[in-house]
Amino acid sequence: MSAAPLALGVLASGRGSNLQAILDAVAAGRLDAEVRAVVSDVADAFALERARRAGVPALFVDPKGPGGKAGLEGRIVERLREHGVSAVALAGYMRVCGETLLSAFPGRIVNIHPSLLPSFPGLHVQRAALEHGARFSGCTVHFVDAGVDTGPIIAQAVVPVLDGDTEESLAARILRQEHRVFPLALQLLAEGRLRIDGRRVLVEGRAPAPEDAALLNPPPDA
Ligand code: GRF
Repeated sequence: MSAAPLALGVLASGRGSNLQAILDAVAAGRLDAEVRAVVSDVADAFALERARRAGVPALFVDPKGPGGKAGLEGRIVERLREHGVSAVALAGYMRVCGETLLSAFPGRIVNIHPSLLPSFPGLHVQRAALEHGARFSGCTVHFVDAGVDTGPIIAQAVVPVLDGDTEESLAARILRQEHRVFPLALQLLAEGRLRIDGRRVLVEGRAPAPEDAALLNPPPDA
């Protein structure tokens, strides 16, 4: 266990329900972190309002400023550094990370994505899972690399896809699990338990999942 809480920066472009889950987990003592700053590339993102309500610095960084993507990321890095951030959670940050952000926090940026990666990276993933006829979907927390949703996987949660599902109902079911798995993965990072071994992330000092744990969909007769 590390002595000091994880100095976390959160990047968010939208409503910020995952940010809220992180703030709630910190407040409840389930996540040994301090959210030092919330940064958004969207001026009226509700995530910024959530940060303000929690007494966390809420910072808008204008994507229309000079220098294109590298310029934007440079300004974000500056703000994160000013607040002593040592790890970054992407909680609905709607841009692909470039070299400036990645090299500022190597191996210290994590993202949440609403599918079971490597299936369905990118956008509109619940629709893609439904259209494909997947029986399960879920969410993935992963380290961020230069690709789109390609980095080493830390944690996943699985939900069934039900026959009556719409994009919205499936997204809502997945989101409930996002709010559980993101703080859990960040706690493993805070505890220094994650070791990247090639594409795999090894979790040290945690009991493994039961070997025969399995969900079947459709379920077998009782
Ligand atoms: C979530 O579905 C997350 O997985 C994806 O963007 C969405 C953000 O939602 N990366 P919120 O802003 O956290 O409510």
